[in-house]
Amino acid sequence: MLKVIRRKSILKEAVDEFRKSNLSIGLVPTMGALHKGHISLIEMSNMHYDVTIATIFVNPTQFNNTEDLAKYPRNEETDIALLSKTGCRVVFIPSVDEIYANPPLITLNFGYLEHIMEGKHRSGHFNGVGLVVAKLLGIARPDGAYFGQKDLQQFRIISRLVSDLDIPVQLHLAPIVREENGLAMSSRNERLTAEQRQLAGNLYKSLSLSSDLLFSGVPQQEVKLAVYDFFKALDGVDLEYFEIVDFETLENIPSLNEGDQLALCLAAYVAGVRLIDNLVIEL
Ligand code: PAF
Repeated sequence: MLKVIRRKSILKEAVDEFRKSNLSIGLVPTMGALHKGHISLIEMSNMHYDVTIATIFVNPTQFNNTEDLAKYPRNEETDIALLSKTGCRVVFIPSVDEIYANPPLITLNFGYLEHIMEGKHRSGHFNGVGLVVAKLLGIARPDGAYFGQKDLQQFRIISRLVSDLDIPVQLHLAPIVREENGLAMSSRNERLTAEQRQLAGNLYKSLSLSSDLLFSGVPQQEVKLAVYDFFKALDGVDLEYFEIVDFETLENIPSLNEGDQLALCLAAYVAGVRLIDNLVIEL
């Protein structure tokens, strides 16, 4: 039976009970508007841990754009109904005041990871992500926590948070779940019409194109130009960035070699909705 908890103190009591019974805990932090991608994280957590705790919290400190925060989809009732069918034991749905009763004085800076891709285009975003994830890990004290590969840079940031602060949790990176046309599942897709979702399938198409070109030995700069040209020729999608980076460090690799693990990452706007995606390949 799914338990809905809104207070930190009550969640801490529930966690104490699980701990007393020697049950391991998997955490799935989300911002709600749940889709198949989130459900896959819950299922993976259910398989590895005795109990799964999901969280739903649209975290204001990670939005650098107030309109984006206001328009972020919120479907609490549907989310709870969906979660109750997954075997998830607890969903924590705190208010903003519950999480940020004392506005944090601390600021997190993730060094070079702040100056590339998402960090470069969303100033302060990772400070907000780091703060809320540190809080959720502190409140729920899970053995493991699950994050989706669509937000690969977020995963790298959280990995540094956990290793730099010696937080005792095992992090799991879960594969991207896609729509039939390749569009990566995202809560933000809810803001797109059926036609716009079709158009957004081009993000994945461009990643597949760049992967094909890299496998055929086309130099990185030419691959980048091909991707920019692909989007220039496409009405209704505005590419913000496309980067070819090392899968682990997310840094550019000056010259590529066989066996290199790469992440092809991009962000683009479709009908004013900002979407991100990536494809991981091994040369
Ligand atoms: O990926 C998300 O949904 C959010 O960034 C997270 C990890 C739940 C933190 O708010």
